[in-house]
Amino acid sequence: PTVSDRWRPAAHFTARRSWLNDPNGLLHHDGVYHLFFQTNPDGSTWGDISWGHATSTDLLTWTEHDIAIPRTADELVFSGSAVADVHNTAGLAAPGQTALVAIYTAVRPARADRPGSQAQALAYSVDGGRSWERYAGNPVLDIGSEEFRDPKVFWYGGPDGHWVMVVAEAVDRRVAVYTSPNLIEWTFESRFGPAHAVGGVWECPDLFPLTVRGTDRTRWVLVVSLNPGGIAGGTGTQYFVGDFDGRTFTPERLSLSQDPRDLDWLDHGRDYYAAVSFNDAPDGRRLTIGWASNWDYAAHTPTGPWRSAMSLARELDLVRAVDGRHRVAQRPVLPDDPRVTVVDLTVASGAGERTEVVLSTGEPGGSELVLTVDGDARTLTCDRTRSGDVGFHPAFASVETAPLPPGDATTTDLRIVVDACVVEIYVDGGQVTLTALVFPDAPLVAVRVLPSRAR
Ligand code: FRU
Repeated sequence: PTVSDRWRPAAHFTARRSWLNDPNGLLHHDGVYHLFFQTNPDGSTWGDISWGHATSTDLLTWTEHDIAIPRTADELVFSGSAVADVHNTAGLAAPGQTALVAIYTAVRPARADRPGSQAQALAYSVDGGRSWERYAGNPVLDIGSEEFRDPKVFWYGGPDGHWVMVVAEAVDRRVAVYTSPNLIEWTFESRFGPAHAVGGVWECPDLFPLTVRGTDRTRWVLVVSLNPGGIAGGTGTQYFVGDFDGRTFTPERLSLSQDPRDLDWLDHGRDYYAAVSFNDAPDGRRLTIGWASNWDYAAHTPTGPWRSAMSLARELDLVRAVDGRHRVAQRPVLPDDPRVTVVDLTVASGAGERTEVVLSTGEPGGSELVLTVDGDARTLTCDRTRSGDVGFHPAFASVETAPLPPGDATTTDLRIVVDACVVEIYVDGGQVTLTALVFPDAPLVAVRVLPSRAR
Protein backbone atom coordinates (compact mmCIF):
# COMPACT_ATOMS: atom_id res chain seq x y z
CA PRO A 1 0.00 0.00 0.00
CA THR A 2 1.06 3.60 -0.53
CA VAL A 3 1.76 5.68 2.54
CA SER A 4 -1.55 7.42 2.09
CA ASP A 5 -3.46 4.15 1.96
CA ARG A 6 -1.71 2.55 4.90
CA TRP A 7 -4.47 1.63 7.36
CA ARG A 8 -7.21 2.74 4.97
CA PRO A 9 -10.18 0.37 5.51
CA ALA A 10 -11.87 -1.38 2.58
CA ALA A 11 -15.51 -1.44 3.69
CA HIS A 12 -15.55 1.34 6.27
CA PHE A 13 -16.07 4.66 4.50
CA THR A 14 -13.18 7.14 4.44
CA ALA A 15 -12.92 10.37 2.51
CA ARG A 16 -10.43 10.17 -0.36
CA ARG A 17 -8.04 12.81 0.92
CA SER A 18 -9.52 14.81 3.73
CA TRP A 19 -10.67 14.94 7.30
CA LEU A 20 -14.01 13.40 8.24
CA ASN A 21 -16.17 13.38 11.38
CA ASP A 22 -19.91 12.81 11.99
CA PRO A 23 -22.16 11.03 9.48
CA ASN A 24 -24.84 13.48 8.29
CA GLY A 25 -28.01 13.33 6.23
CA LEU A 26 -28.28 9.54 6.12
CA LEU A 27 -31.07 8.90 3.62
CA HIS A 28 -32.20 6.09 1.34
CA HIS A 29 -33.88 7.38 -1.79
CA ASP A 30 -34.56 5.77 -5.18
CA GLY A 31 -32.43 2.74 -4.38
CA VAL A 32 -29.43 4.80 -3.26
CA TYR A 33 -27.99 5.27 0.22
CA HIS A 34 -26.74 8.81 0.75
CA LEU A 35 -24.03 9.40 3.32
CA PHE A 36 -23.08 13.01 3.95
CA PHE A 37 -20.31 13.72 6.38
CA GLN A 38 -18.56 16.49 8.23
CA THR A 39 -15.40 17.25 6.28
CA ASN A 40 -12.65 19.78 5.88
CA PRO A 41 -12.45 19.88 2.06
CA ASP A 42 -8.78 20.83 2.01
CA GLY A 43 -7.46 19.57 5.32
CA SER A 44 -6.64 16.55 7.42
CA THR A 45 -7.84 18.06 10.68
CA TRP A 46 -11.14 19.68 11.64
CA GLY A 47 -11.81 23.05 9.98
CA ASP A 48 -13.74 24.85 7.23
CA ILE A 49 -16.41 22.35 8.09
CA SER A 50 -18.71 21.43 5.20
CA TRP A 51 -20.90 18.51 4.12
CA GLY A 52 -19.11 15.93 2.00
CA HIS A 53 -21.20 13.38 0.13
CA ALA A 54 -20.94 9.71 -0.82
CA THR A 55 -23.44 7.21 -2.18
CA SER A 56 -23.78 3.44 -2.19
CA THR A 57 -26.29 0.79 -3.13
CA ASP A 58 -24.97 -1.84 -0.66
CA LEU A 59 -23.66 0.23 2.29
CA LEU A 60 -20.20 -1.26 1.70
CA THR A 61 -18.89 0.24 -1.54
CA TRP A 62 -19.07 4.02 -1.51
CA THR A 63 -18.55 6.58 -4.23
CA GLU A 64 -17.45 10.00 -3.04
CA HIS A 65 -18.96 13.04 -4.78
CA ASP A 66 -18.28 16.76 -4.76
CA ILE A 67 -18.86 18.72 -1.57
CA ALA A 68 -22.66 18.98 -1.20
CA ILE A 69 -22.89 21.97 1.14
CA PRO A 70 -19.68 24.02 1.34
CA ARG A 71 -18.95 26.46 4.11
CA THR A 72 -19.25 30.11 3.18
CA ALA A 73 -17.34 33.16 4.35
CA ASP A 74 -19.54 33.46 7.44
CA GLU A 75 -21.18 30.06 7.83
CA LEU A 76 -19.80 26.70 8.89
CA VAL A 77 -21.98 23.71 8.06
CA PHE A 78 -22.40 21.53 11.16
CA SER A 79 -24.15 18.19 11.50
CA GLY A 80 -27.74 17.41 10.55
CA SER A 81 -30.04 15.14 8.61
CA ALA A 82 -31.81 14.81 5.26
CA VAL A 83 -35.31 13.87 4.17
CA ALA A 84 -37.12 13.18 0.91
CA ASP A 85 -40.00 15.66 0.85
CA VAL A 86 -42.28 13.36 -1.15
CA HIS A 87 -45.42 15.45 -0.49
CA ASN A 88 -43.56 18.66 -1.42
CA THR A 89 -44.54 20.13 1.97
CA ALA A 90 -41.79 22.76 1.69
CA GLY A 91 -42.77 23.69 -1.86
CA LEU A 92 -39.18 23.48 -3.02
CA ALA A 93 -39.83 21.05 -5.89
CA ALA A 94 -41.62 21.67 -9.19
CA PRO A 95 -44.69 19.50 -9.90
CA GLY A 96 -43.62 15.91 -10.43
CA GLN A 97 -40.28 16.40 -8.67
CA THR A 98 -39.21 15.39 -5.19
CA ALA A 99 -36.85 17.65 -3.31
CA LEU A 100 -34.28 16.10 -1.02
CA VAL A 101 -33.93 18.50 1.88
CA ALA A 102 -30.93 18.70 4.20
CA ILE A 103 -31.47 20.25 7.63
CA TYR A 104 -28.11 21.33 9.03
CA THR A 105 -26.76 23.60 11.74
CA ALA A 106 -25.61 26.91 10.29
CA VAL A 107 -22.81 28.14 12.53
CA ARG A 108 -21.87 31.77 12.53
CA PRO A 109 -18.52 32.02 14.27
CA ALA A 110 -18.18 34.63 17.02
CA ARG A 111 -16.36 37.83 16.12
CA ALA A 112 -15.13 40.76 18.18
CA ASP A 113 -18.22 42.77 17.20
CA ARG A 114 -20.90 40.06 17.62
CA PRO A 115 -21.46 36.72 19.36
CA GLY A 116 -21.56 33.47 17.46
CA SER A 117 -24.76 31.57 16.75
CA GLN A 118 -26.00 28.10 15.91
CA ALA A 119 -29.32 27.89 14.05
CA GLN A 120 -31.03 25.29 11.87
CA ALA A 121 -31.00 25.84 8.11
CA LEU A 122 -32.08 24.05 4.93
CA ALA A 123 -30.41 23.13 1.67
CA TYR A 124 -32.20 21.21 -1.06
CA SER A 125 -31.62 19.20 -4.19
CA VAL A 126 -34.07 18.66 -7.02
CA ASP A 127 -31.74 16.41 -9.02
CA GLY A 128 -31.64 13.42 -6.69
CA GLY A 129 -28.81 14.74 -4.54
CA ARG A 130 -26.30 15.73 -7.23
CA SER A 131 -26.42 19.47 -6.58
CA TRP A 132 -27.52 21.44 -3.53
CA GLU A 133 -28.89 24.93 -3.06
CA ARG A 134 -29.26 26.83 0.20
CA TYR A 135 -32.85 27.79 1.05
CA ALA A 136 -33.31 31.55 0.64
CA GLY A 137 -35.23 31.90 3.92
CA ASN A 138 -32.48 30.49 6.17
CA PRO A 139 -32.26 30.01 9.05
CA VAL A 140 -35.55 28.23 9.70
CA LEU A 141 -35.04 27.78 13.45
CA ASP A 142 -32.99 30.28 15.43
CA ILE A 143 -33.41 30.58 19.20
CA GLY A 144 -30.48 32.94 19.66
CA SER A 145 -28.22 30.24 21.04
CA GLU A 146 -24.54 29.48 20.52
CA GLU A 147 -25.04 25.82 21.50
CA PHE A 148 -28.04 24.51 19.54
CA ARG A 149 -27.19 21.90 16.96
CA ASP A 150 -27.40 18.64 15.05
CA PRO A 151 -31.07 18.50 13.97
CA LYS A 152 -32.43 15.06 13.12
CA VAL A 153 -35.67 15.40 11.15
CA PHE A 154 -38.06 12.58 10.23
CA TRP A 155 -41.69 12.18 9.20
CA TYR A 156 -44.06 11.05 11.97
CA GLY A 157 -47.38 9.34 11.23
CA GLY A 158 -49.19 8.67 7.97
CA PRO A 159 -50.33 11.14 5.30
CA ASP A 160 -51.74 13.39 8.04
CA GLY A 161 -48.50 13.28 9.96
CA HIS A 162 -45.90 15.97 10.52
CA TRP A 163 -42.16 16.52 10.55
CA VAL A 164 -40.34 16.04 13.85
CA MET A 165 -36.97 17.53 14.71
CA VAL A 166 -34.86 16.40 17.65
CA VAL A 167 -32.01 18.81 18.24
CA ALA A 168 -29.37 19.21 20.96
CA GLU A 169 -29.27 22.05 23.47
CA ALA A 170 -25.70 20.96 23.90
CA VAL A 171 -24.42 22.59 27.08
CA ASP A 172 -27.77 22.21 28.85
CA ARG A 173 -27.67 18.45 28.12
CA ARG A 174 -31.14 18.48 26.67
CA VAL A 175 -32.78 17.23 23.52
CA ALA A 176 -35.54 19.54 22.27
CA VAL A 177 -38.42 18.30 20.10
CA TYR A 178 -39.95 20.58 17.44
CA THR A 179 -42.64 19.81 14.87
CA SER A 180 -43.43 21.30 11.48
CA PRO A 181 -45.92 20.84 8.64
CA ASN A 182 -43.42 22.03 6.01
CA LEU A 183 -39.79 21.93 7.25
CA ILE A 184 -39.83 25.75 7.36
CA GLU A 185 -42.04 26.73 10.32
CA TRP A 186 -41.10 24.91 13.51
CA THR A 187 -43.05 24.71 16.79
CA PHE A 188 -41.42 23.82 20.09
CA GLU A 189 -43.04 20.75 21.70
CA SER A 190 -40.97 19.32 24.55
CA ARG A 191 -37.58 18.71 26.05
CA PHE A 192 -35.80 15.68 27.44
CA GLY A 193 -32.83 15.83 29.83
CA PRO A 194 -30.52 16.25 31.50
CA ALA A 195 -30.52 12.53 32.28
CA HIS A 196 -28.06 9.67 32.66
CA ALA A 197 -24.59 10.52 31.36
CA VAL A 198 -24.04 14.28 31.52
CA GLY A 199 -20.26 14.48 31.84
CA GLY A 200 -19.99 16.35 28.55
CA VAL A 201 -22.09 18.27 26.06
CA TRP A 202 -24.98 16.48 24.35
CA GLU A 203 -24.72 16.25 20.56
CA CYS A 204 -26.20 14.47 17.53
CA PRO A 205 -29.53 13.17 18.89
CA ASP A 206 -31.63 10.66 16.98
CA LEU A 207 -35.07 9.21 17.72
CA PHE A 208 -36.64 6.21 16.02
CA PRO A 209 -38.98 3.25 16.62
CA LEU A 210 -37.68 -0.31 16.94
CA THR A 211 -39.60 -3.57 17.15
CA VAL A 212 -39.04 -5.65 20.25
CA ARG A 213 -37.72 -8.94 18.89
CA GLY A 214 -40.24 -11.77 18.93
CA THR A 215 -43.19 -9.41 19.54
CA ASP A 216 -45.21 -6.93 17.52
CA ARG A 217 -44.54 -4.20 20.06
CA THR A 218 -42.61 -1.06 19.26
CA ARG A 219 -40.49 1.12 21.52
CA TRP A 220 -38.77 4.38 20.66
CA VAL A 221 -35.06 4.83 21.10
CA LEU A 222 -33.47 8.22 21.76
CA VAL A 223 -29.76 8.24 20.94
CA VAL A 224 -27.59 10.95 22.50
CA SER A 225 -23.88 11.38 21.87
CA LEU A 226 -21.83 13.10 24.51
CA ASN A 227 -18.37 14.59 24.62
CA PRO A 228 -16.59 13.98 26.92
CA GLY A 229 -18.16 11.64 29.50
CA GLY A 230 -18.47 8.51 27.34
CA ILE A 231 -18.32 5.08 28.97
CA ALA A 232 -14.79 4.42 27.71
CA GLY A 233 -13.46 7.96 28.15
CA GLY A 234 -13.84 10.91 25.83
CA THR A 235 -16.69 10.69 23.37
CA GLY A 236 -19.44 8.11 23.72
CA THR A 237 -22.97 7.34 22.59
CA GLN A 238 -25.77 6.58 25.07
CA TYR A 239 -29.40 5.72 24.43
CA PHE A 240 -32.77 5.77 26.19
CA VAL A 241 -35.68 3.41 25.47
CA GLY A 242 -39.21 4.74 25.81
CA ASP A 243 -42.28 5.99 24.00
CA PHE A 244 -42.92 8.85 21.63
CA ASP A 245 -46.34 10.25 20.72
CA GLY A 246 -45.14 12.57 17.96
CA ARG A 247 -44.42 15.40 20.39
CA THR A 248 -42.89 14.09 23.61
CA PHE A 249 -40.39 11.35 24.41
CA THR A 250 -41.05 9.48 27.67
CA PRO A 251 -38.31 7.11 28.87
CA GLU A 252 -39.43 3.78 30.30
CA ARG A 253 -36.54 3.63 32.78
CA LEU A 254 -34.38 6.30 34.33
CA SER A 255 -31.50 4.93 36.32
CA LEU A 256 -31.00 6.36 39.79
CA SER A 257 -27.44 5.11 39.75
CA GLN A 258 -24.62 7.46 38.79
CA ASP A 259 -22.49 4.49 37.74
CA PRO A 260 -22.04 4.73 33.96
CA ARG A 261 -22.14 0.93 33.79
CA ASP A 262 -25.81 1.04 34.80
CA LEU A 263 -26.67 3.21 31.79
CA ASP A 264 -27.29 2.13 28.20
CA TRP A 265 -24.50 2.63 25.66
CA LEU A 266 -24.63 1.94 21.96
CA ASP A 267 -20.97 0.94 22.05
CA HIS A 268 -18.44 0.30 24.80
CA GLY A 269 -15.30 1.21 22.86
CA ARG A 270 -13.70 4.59 22.49
CA ASP A 271 -14.30 4.88 18.78
CA TYR A 272 -18.02 5.08 18.13
CA TYR A 273 -19.57 8.53 18.11
CA ALA A 274 -22.32 10.64 16.57
CA ALA A 275 -24.22 7.54 15.43
CA VAL A 276 -27.44 8.32 13.59
CA SER A 277 -29.85 6.33 11.47
CA PHE A 278 -31.01 6.43 7.86
CA ASN A 279 -34.34 7.94 6.97
CA ASP A 280 -36.49 5.79 4.67
CA ALA A 281 -34.35 2.64 4.71
CA PRO A 282 -36.12 -0.13 2.78
CA ASP A 283 -38.35 -2.73 4.47
CA GLY A 284 -38.62 -0.75 7.69
CA ARG A 285 -35.01 -1.55 8.55
CA ARG A 286 -33.30 0.73 11.04
CA LEU A 287 -29.71 1.20 9.90
CA THR A 288 -27.13 3.37 11.62
CA ILE A 289 -23.62 4.57 10.95
CA GLY A 290 -21.29 6.10 13.55
CA TRP A 291 -18.00 7.93 13.37
CA ALA A 292 -15.18 5.55 14.33
CA SER A 293 -13.03 7.93 16.33
CA ASN A 294 -12.85 9.92 19.54
CA TRP A 295 -12.49 13.68 19.93
CA ASP A 296 -9.73 13.01 22.50
CA TYR A 297 -7.26 12.06 19.76
CA ALA A 298 -9.10 12.20 16.41
CA ALA A 299 -6.84 14.97 15.09
CA HIS A 300 -3.70 12.93 15.77
CA THR A 301 -4.34 9.48 14.28
CA PRO A 302 -1.39 8.55 12.04
CA THR A 303 -3.04 8.57 8.61
CA GLY A 304 -3.14 11.06 5.81
CA PRO A 305 -4.21 12.91 3.82
CA TRP A 306 -7.44 11.11 4.78
CA ARG A 307 -8.27 10.95 8.45
CA SER A 308 -11.03 8.99 10.26
CA ALA A 309 -13.44 6.32 9.08
CA MET A 310 -17.12 5.61 9.56
CA SER A 311 -18.30 2.42 11.28
CA LEU A 312 -19.94 -0.30 9.27
CA ALA A 313 -23.67 0.21 8.84
CA ARG A 314 -25.50 -1.60 11.63
CA GLU A 315 -29.04 -2.92 11.65
CA LEU A 316 -30.83 -2.41 14.96
CA ASP A 317 -33.64 -4.06 16.87
CA LEU A 318 -34.58 -4.36 20.54
CA VAL A 319 -34.31 -7.37 22.79
CA ARG A 320 -35.95 -7.77 26.15
CA ALA A 321 -33.18 -9.03 28.40
CA VAL A 322 -33.60 -11.36 31.41
CA ASP A 323 -33.49 -8.35 33.73
CA GLY A 324 -36.58 -6.96 31.97
CA ARG A 325 -34.72 -4.12 30.27
CA HIS A 326 -35.01 -3.43 26.58
CA ARG A 327 -31.62 -3.27 24.96
CA VAL A 328 -30.60 -2.32 21.47
CA ALA A 329 -29.00 -5.16 19.50
CA GLN A 330 -26.84 -4.28 16.49
CA ARG A 331 -25.78 -6.44 13.58
CA PRO A 332 -23.24 -5.21 11.04
CA VAL A 333 -23.89 -5.12 7.34
CA LEU A 334 -21.06 -7.52 6.59
CA PRO A 335 -18.57 -7.09 3.78
CA ASP A 336 -17.62 -10.06 1.66
CA ASP A 337 -14.16 -8.79 0.86
CA PRO A 338 -10.85 -10.62 1.25
CA ARG A 339 -9.29 -7.48 2.74
CA VAL A 340 -11.72 -7.64 5.67
CA THR A 341 -11.32 -10.37 8.30
CA VAL A 342 -14.53 -11.60 9.93
CA VAL A 343 -14.18 -14.05 12.80
CA ASP A 344 -17.08 -15.83 14.52
CA LEU A 345 -16.30 -17.61 17.77
CA THR A 346 -18.10 -19.09 20.73
CA VAL A 347 -16.04 -19.02 23.90
CA ALA A 348 -16.66 -20.48 27.35
CA SER A 349 -17.72 -17.79 29.81
CA GLY A 350 -19.14 -19.65 32.78
CA ALA A 351 -17.93 -19.15 36.34
CA GLY A 352 -14.19 -19.76 36.53
CA GLU A 353 -13.72 -19.54 32.76
CA ARG A 354 -11.52 -17.01 31.07
CA THR A 355 -10.63 -16.87 27.40
CA GLU A 356 -8.18 -14.68 25.53
CA VAL A 357 -8.67 -14.00 21.85
CA VAL A 358 -5.55 -12.48 20.34
CA LEU A 359 -5.70 -10.76 16.98
CA SER A 360 -2.20 -10.45 15.59
CA THR A 361 -0.11 -9.95 12.51
CA GLY A 362 1.03 -13.58 12.73
CA GLU A 363 4.65 -12.44 13.12
CA PRO A 364 6.47 -13.01 16.42
CA GLY A 365 6.68 -9.72 18.30
CA GLY A 366 4.20 -8.04 15.95
CA SER A 367 1.24 -5.90 16.89
CA GLU A 368 -1.56 -7.52 18.91
CA LEU A 369 -5.06 -6.67 20.02
CA VAL A 370 -6.03 -8.78 23.04
CA LEU A 371 -9.66 -9.51 23.88
CA THR A 372 -10.46 -11.25 27.16
CA VAL A 373 -13.79 -12.78 28.08
CA ASP A 374 -13.94 -13.18 31.86
CA GLY A 375 -16.78 -15.41 33.09
CA ASP A 376 -16.41 -14.34 36.72
CA ALA A 377 -16.35 -10.61 36.11
CA ARG A 378 -18.79 -11.15 33.19
CA THR A 379 -16.82 -8.72 31.08
CA LEU A 380 -15.13 -8.42 27.74
CA THR A 381 -11.94 -6.38 27.77
CA CYS A 382 -10.12 -5.04 24.73
CA ASP A 383 -6.46 -4.22 25.22
CA ARG A 384 -4.82 -2.23 22.44
CA THR A 385 -1.73 -1.18 24.36
CA ARG A 386 0.47 -3.35 22.08
CA SER A 387 -1.58 -2.87 18.90
CA GLY A 388 1.08 -1.01 16.90
CA ASP A 389 1.39 2.76 16.71
CA VAL A 390 -0.14 3.88 20.01
CA GLY A 391 2.24 6.75 20.74
CA PHE A 392 0.65 9.50 18.66
CA HIS A 393 -1.48 10.65 21.61
CA PRO A 394 -1.21 9.88 25.35
CA ALA A 395 -4.90 8.91 25.59
CA PHE A 396 -4.78 6.29 22.85
CA ALA A 397 -3.09 3.26 24.43
CA SER A 398 -5.96 1.89 26.49
CA VAL A 399 -7.89 -1.10 27.79
CA GLU A 400 -11.68 -0.95 27.48
CA THR A 401 -14.15 -3.05 29.45
CA ALA A 402 -17.67 -3.98 28.33
CA PRO A 403 -20.23 -5.97 30.32
CA LEU A 404 -21.39 -9.28 28.89
CA PRO A 405 -25.15 -9.30 28.28
CA PRO A 406 -27.06 -10.10 31.50
CA GLY A 407 -27.98 -13.71 32.22
CA ASP A 408 -26.21 -16.88 33.23
CA ALA A 409 -25.15 -18.15 29.81
CA THR A 410 -21.97 -20.20 30.04
CA THR A 411 -20.83 -19.33 26.54
CA THR A 412 -20.43 -16.03 24.69
CA ASP A 413 -20.61 -15.49 20.94
CA LEU A 414 -18.16 -13.04 19.43
CA ARG A 415 -18.24 -11.66 15.93
CA ILE A 416 -15.07 -9.69 15.23
CA VAL A 417 -14.63 -7.60 12.11
CA VAL A 418 -11.12 -6.33 11.32
CA ASP A 419 -10.78 -3.85 8.48
CA ALA A 420 -7.33 -2.21 8.53
CA CYS A 421 -7.55 0.40 11.33
CA VAL A 422 -11.11 -0.35 12.51
CA VAL A 423 -12.03 -3.34 14.68
CA GLU A 424 -15.69 -3.89 15.59
CA ILE A 425 -16.68 -6.54 18.12
CA TYR A 426 -20.29 -7.75 18.38
CA VAL A 427 -21.12 -9.81 21.49
CA ASP A 428 -24.06 -12.26 21.55
CA GLY A 429 -25.79 -11.04 18.43
CA GLY A 430 -24.74 -7.45 19.00
CA GLN A 431 -26.35 -6.94 22.41
CA VAL A 432 -23.01 -5.40 23.35
CA THR A 433 -20.61 -3.85 20.85
CA LEU A 434 -17.10 -2.45 21.14
CA THR A 435 -15.36 -0.47 18.42
CA ALA A 436 -11.61 0.15 18.58
CA LEU A 437 -9.12 1.83 16.28
CA VAL A 438 -5.73 0.17 15.81
CA PHE A 439 -2.66 1.09 13.76
CA PRO A 440 -0.76 -2.21 13.60
CA ASP A 441 2.63 -2.68 11.94
CA ALA A 442 1.00 -5.21 9.55
CA PRO A 443 -2.66 -6.21 9.11
CA LEU A 444 -4.20 -8.11 12.03
CA VAL A 445 -5.08 -11.28 10.14
CA ALA A 446 -4.25 -14.06 12.63
CA VAL A 447 -6.44 -15.20 15.52
CA ARG A 448 -5.29 -17.19 18.56
CA VAL A 449 -7.72 -18.43 21.20
CA LEU A 450 -6.22 -19.15 24.60
CA PRO A 451 -8.66 -20.67 27.07
CA SER A 452 -7.47 -20.23 30.61
CA ARG A 453 -8.90 -20.52 34.08
CA ALA A 454 -9.66 -17.33 35.92
CA ARG A 455 -6.97 -16.46 38.40
C1 FRU B 1 -20.10 16.09 17.00
C2 FRU B 1 -20.02 17.55 16.59
C3 FRU B 1 -21.40 18.11 16.36
C4 FRU B 1 -21.15 19.21 15.39
C5 FRU B 1 -20.03 18.65 14.55
C6 FRU B 1 -19.07 19.69 14.05
O1 FRU B 1 -18.94 15.37 16.75
O2 FRU B 1 -19.32 18.28 17.58
O3 FRU B 1 -22.07 18.53 17.53
O4 FRU B 1 -22.27 19.53 14.63
O5 FRU B 1 -19.35 17.73 15.36
O6 FRU B 1 -18.18 19.14 13.14
